[in-house]
Amino acid sequence: MADAIAGVARTQVTVTVNGQERSGNVEPRTLLVHFLRDDLGLTGTHVGCDTSQCGACVVTVDGVTTKSCTKLAVQADGCSIETIEGLADGTNYHPIQDAFWEKHGLQCGYCTPGMIMSAKALLERNPDPSEAEIRHELEGNLCRCTGYQNIVKSVQYAAEKMRGAG
Ligand code: FES
Ligand code: FES
Repeated sequence: MADAIAGVARTQVTVTVNGQERSGNVEPRTLLVHFLRDDLGLTGTHVGCDTSQCGACVVTVDGVTTKSCTKLAVQADGCSIETIEGLADGTNYHPIQDAFWEKHGLQCGYCTPGMIMSAKALLERNPDPSEAEIRHELEGNLCRCTGYQNIVKSVQYAAEKMRGAG
């Protein structure tokens, strides 16, 4: 059995993450979230469930928001990925990160990377979403702490700031 496990073929996967080309050798069953966290050291993307329901693992793959626990690393080969680590510009937080800070959009912070990545995708598509649209967009992201009210306020505040900046 040990030999069989040791003999599992590994495949090279190369992705562009937050603008940088990164590679690793993975087993065919390796999930993208584990590749990001364990092989590339990008632990900002969280694992909050094993049922693909919580959204803590959301990243974008070729611009599409994706629960990275639902995709194999080999399926992402050649793709361009953005994770929460790619949002800040040096020591300057992204406006959505600032908004979560300003409006208390987090408590434990476990859901926050996924929330922010989903919110970013929404605001890129729709810079002035209604409260209902924000709630709809974040339906796939669960938070056990905040009751969601301050998360919605954070996204509204970020939208306002980003429209002002744009
Ligand atoms: S860890 Fe991916 S949805 Fe929960
Ligand atoms: S802030 Fe704790 S799960 Fe959302």
